[in-house]
Amino acid sequence: MPVSKKAKKPKVSSADTKGPRVSSGIPGLDRRIGGGFIRGSVNLLSGGAGTGKTIFALQFLQDGIQKGELGLFISMEEDLSELKEDAKSFGWDFDRYEQQGKVKFMYFYPYDLSDFQSQLISEITKTGATRVVIDSTSVFGMALEDEYEVRKQLYAFASQLKRLKCTTILTSEIVGEPSLSASSSLSRFGVEEFVSDSVITLYYAGLGGENDRALRIIKMRRTNQDKGVIPFKIGTKGIEVLSKEKNYK
Ligand SMILES: Nc1ncnc2c1ncn2[C@@H]1O[C@H](COP(=O)(O)OP(=O)(O)O)[C@@H](O)[C@H]1O
Ligand SMILES: [Mg+2]
Repeated sequence: MPVSKKAKKPKVSSADTKGPRVSSGIPGLDRRIGGGFIRGSVNLLSGGAGTGKTIFALQFLQDGIQKGELGLFISMEEDLSELKEDAKSFGWDFDRYEQQGKVKFMYFYPYDLSDFQSQLISEITKTGATRVVIDSTSVFGMALEDEYEVRKQLYAFASQLKRLKCTTILTSEIVGEPSLSASSSLSRFGVEEFVSDSVITLYYAGLGGENDRALRIIKMRRTNQDKGVIPFKIGTKGIEVLSKEKNYK
């Protein structure tokens, strides 16, 4: 019996093409990014100082812990106790989680990158972390003199993280005036956006008030993401995406 061309086409469900997703932990964001970050992807969060990158990243780990996913936070801040103390204002007790072995905070000395990768890989393997945060990519720039070397390292690094199947957030601080313009720089080294599966940029006008903060999903692999400017606030429970309809006309 002849089979029509139509019947021959393999049926692929949307779940198959989109892959499993990992919640961002940010209320209101997942539905705008196809259900969350792609499991095992490297995701770039970029923005100027004070735009909320660190809070976003901590919230992502906090969400993972609630769902039984272990976390690893790599920081360039020497004083990790202060960071964890600040997180308590949102109700996130990372000291307790760390004692329980659910998360690990690590400081990396920015001038010594020689074994940054191998150390990180061994930490991921040792802890069994599936959610990883690198806050921020400046660690690469401080340790490496030439930009070509930074790009090469970032590329190798991202590939390795993907092989380990960790869902990763890389933060990148944009130097200079943050801008809503799509043509402006997306990252510290101008290469992070190419090694990442998704890019989210954060903005802060610094004027006070609810419509002061916004984010944009610049790209996300395998996702028909929301393309517009998405307002958010930093409230008592962390970052929360606001409904555009109500807040942006
Ligand atoms: N408990 C809080 N409630 C509301 N806003 C906060 C709170 N803690 C910090 N912020 C705001 O978060 C911003 C800093 O966020 P952070 O994630 O550290 O930024 P980045 O890492 O991008 O420099 C500051 O603008 C500050 O006003
Ligand atoms: Mg920060």
